Amino acid sequence: MPSSIALPRVLENYSLQSLNTFGIDVKAKYFVEIRSIEQYHHLLNAGLYSHVPHIFWGGGSNVLLTQDLNALVVKVAIEGIEVIKEDEHHVWVRAGAGVVWHDFVQYTVSHHWAGIENLSLIPGTVGAAPMQNIGAYGVEIKDTFDHLQAFHLTNQVLETFDAEACRFGYRESYFKHEGKGKYLIAYVCFKLNKIAKAQTSYGAIQDVLNAKSITQPSIQDVSDAVIEIRKSKLPDPKEIGNSGSFFKNPTLDATQAAALMEKYPEIPHYPVAGSSEIKFPAGWLIEQAGWKGFRDGDAGVHAKQALVLVNYGQASGKQILALSEKIKQSILSKFGVVLETEVNIL
Ligand code: EPU
Repeated sequence: MPSSIALPRVLENYSLQSLNTFGIDVKAKYFVEIRSIEQYHHLLNAGLYSHVPHIFWGGGSNVLLTQDLNALVVKVAIEGIEVIKEDEHHVWVRAGAGVVWHDFVQYTVSHHWAGIENLSLIPGTVGAAPMQNIGAYGVEIKDTFDHLQAFHLTNQVLETFDAEACRFGYRESYFKHEGKGKYLIAYVCFKLNKIAKAQTSYGAIQDVLNAKSITQPSIQDVSDAVIEIRKSKLPDPKEIGNSGSFFKNPTLDATQAAALMEKYPEIPHYPVAGSSEIKFPAGWLIEQAGWKGFRDGDAGVHAKQALVLVNYGQASGKQILALSEKIKQSILSKFGVVLETEVNIL
């Protein structure tokens, strides 16, 4: 390791309030921002913070903080977008983990590279996107993901993971399970299409395009439509604290699904590709159970999207967690369905 790299400055008892989209005020015992893997490597070699766990931080948009963190929070600020390969049909674009996800999407859309435009306006960073295989409006990142490079904390080398090695599932990856705490994701590369084919199968996108009489949508049109839909349904974290969908949409086996649909014939449902399972919208279940727009102090359920829990200002992480537990219990007793939390609880 070249000695010319300065040790990044570590701050103590650092408030994470502006670094999590729920806006929860807890402190990290230690906090550092790193702009390169070399900087982090240097910090590891100095051996000063090996007595506490290291927590890697992206946009803080999928986390609920319930307590102060006795840890070193490492804000990953590795920047840069570059084309590493191209052919007649495709372009391989690599971005640093610290690039803001929506900025990356806009960059690709402005270059007419198709594939992630349906994922416009999702909060967070590029490095966090593969952790939970972010998805929206009929698209998941696994569809255009090529590979990522992650720093192995023990071996201290960059390793390459293709899509198979990442074991992507619905809001799932290797990095949320066996790989948890073992790697720092540094770069992510996507294989995007030069020949665009707009993905408009998701009903709401088609509705927006129809309303604008757009029959041959460009990827910019699709991106604009997605932004419009998201803005109309989802609260802006700058105005109301939230972490997007708080729960996952539950998947039931064919027998359980049939029983639920018989009792509630109007329930929306989606077949899960390649299986007999059926996915149901948790937002519908939560709304039917009467929670939509519920508020207890500053913790609440968003009035336009029941899957989103919100912090109206001063709610603590524990209050929001307690509300989520009540909702889970209520959905279990009313529908017999177990809701799983999508957001990471710390
Ligand atoms: N619904 C209700 N009431 C509600 C909310 C939803 O009845 O309060 C119904 C809707 O009418 C619709 C269905 O539930 O029939 C699905 O709703 P929506 O299209 O809003 O999507 P979602 O299933 O609630 C998922 C993702 C979102 C993603 C959207 C669009 C998960 C956990 N969430 O939400 O992702 O933006 O689809 O593709 O899969 C996120 O992960 O943070 C996120 C926002």
